[in-house]
Amino acid sequence: MSSLTTAPLAPLIERLYAQADAATSPLLNSVSQAERERLMHSKTEYVALYSMLKDLWLPVSQDTGKLLYMLARSNKARAIVEFGTSFGLSTLFLAAALRDNGGGVLIGSEFEASKIALAREHFIEGGVSDLIHIREGDALVTLASDLPEAVDLLLLDGAKTLYGDVLNLVENHLRPGALVVADNTDYCPEYLAYVRAPENGYLSVPFTDDIELSMRLG
Ligand SMILES: C[S@@+](CC[C@H](N)C(=O)[O-])C[C@H]1O[C@@H](n2cnc3c(N)ncnc32)[C@H](O)[C@@H]1O
Repeated sequence: MSSLTTAPLAPLIERLYAQADAATSPLLNSVSQAERERLMHSKTEYVALYSMLKDLWLPVSQDTGKLLYMLARSNKARAIVEFGTSFGLSTLFLAAALRDNGGGVLIGSEFEASKIALAREHFIEGGVSDLIHIREGDALVTLASDLPEAVDLLLLDGAKTLYGDVLNLVENHLRPGALVVADNTDYCPEYLAYVRAPENGYLSVPFTDDIELSMRLG
């Protein structure tokens, strides 16, 4: 049996994906597609972009969530860092893996206080709040210190233009064999070039359409 496929997590995750699908953002709808694309590619205006998106859940797909669980189980993760927590769906998959690995810590990051408040309720309902510490504020600041000495898995799912910067903060903590999962990498050509360049110390492959899976080499 797995924490992911049994109560309380399994029915909670189903319900939260239904809520995520139903969420709307009138503010976002008032912005043109061209302006959204411009903001997605901006390295400086990510706060404005995500403030516009604050009612949207933007979760990893359910398949990606299962993949995260599988990767964290198979590399026996005990310390996980997540860039971009939102309402905590990816966090629940990863925390389920920590629970089934025998415990550990997941350090999340999110700058929208309202999202963190609801995410924390989800963690309590899922019975995994003891495993999760969400750092509130810009991850460029909150993940810059006090990380576990050895990180087993890093999920990159916050502002797309910051993936390289966040990887840079966590890199020295990644143990040999640690995994880095980056979602929506269509927006991240510089990040892809970095993790795919052999001299930077990763083995890296596109995993599905827009996910990059990278392993820190020893
Ligand atoms: C795609 S969503 C994350 C979805 C989440 N991983 C899940 O699967 O449920 C991205 C989130 O990252 C947050 N975010 C983006 N850039 C951030 C930053 N620099 N620091 C902290 N949070 C950030 C946004 O507010 C947003 O809630």
